[in-house]
Amino acid sequence: MKRQQIVAGNWKMNNDLAEGKALAEAVAAQAPVAGVTLVLGTPYIHLSAVADILDGAAGIHLSAQNCHQEESGAYTGEISASMLKSVGAEYVILGHSERREYFGEDEALLAAKVDKALEHGLIPIFCCGEKLDIREAGTHVELVQKQLAGSVFHLSAEDFGKIVIAYEPVWAIGTGRTASPEQAQEMHAAIRKMIADKYGAEVAEATSILYGGSCKPSNAEELFSQPDVDGGLIGGASLKAEDFLAIAGSF
Ligand code: PGA
Repeated sequence: MKRQQIVAGNWKMNNDLAEGKALAEAVAAQAPVAGVTLVLGTPYIHLSAVADILDGAAGIHLSAQNCHQEESGAYTGEISASMLKSVGAEYVILGHSERREYFGEDEALLAAKVDKALEHGLIPIFCCGEKLDIREAGTHVELVQKQLAGSVFHLSAEDFGKIVIAYEPVWAIGTGRTASPEQAQEMHAAIRKMIADKYGAEVAEATSILYGGSCKPSNAEELFSQPDVDGGLIGGASLKAEDFLAIAGSF
């Protein structure tokens, strides 16, 4: 079975509404990209407007960058999974290293967020990846195993089959320092083996595992040519439609 190839943009906290709409329009004008699922991960307040721009077009989907783990209630300033669904989001990025680092999101909290997202029919793009000290100590595979065990390996095989994994070495995010294709492949293959050990070969073979961290038009082709790299989660380069589309054209 051929795995779904996905290129997802993570706009982070960038672009005001007019800029976000212009970017979405520029990407949508070129969509679909044959054989590639495009995802735009916009700030919360852009979601509704971008949903109108995409208007259910084939091959391009909307994502949030976070959601709250509770259903609803007195959580001032927070956004629920059902709210995201109601404005047209189909995906949600969870476990991004910036959420872990700056907002103290831990494995148990992320497990609750993954559950809530799935309950509402959102597809989690679950991020994992090690910091530089762990990479240098050589324990990066163990660390990622722990992140997956703590936040997604409690899922049933059926639910696990709905999620997307993004491997994002923290030392490569926004630094211009990309993992080499060999480093990416080593980890992606290790992740696929962890999934196979837990859920069996069929689920593992069907899971899309994206690479993230300074992925750009000049290195996407090399990264995507690795057998276990099924696409990318793109930060900085997703802010320019031309670069994002060039990455999507790199399979
Ligand atoms: P980057 O970010 O492409 O700017 O390194 C990737 C990410 O954080 O998802």
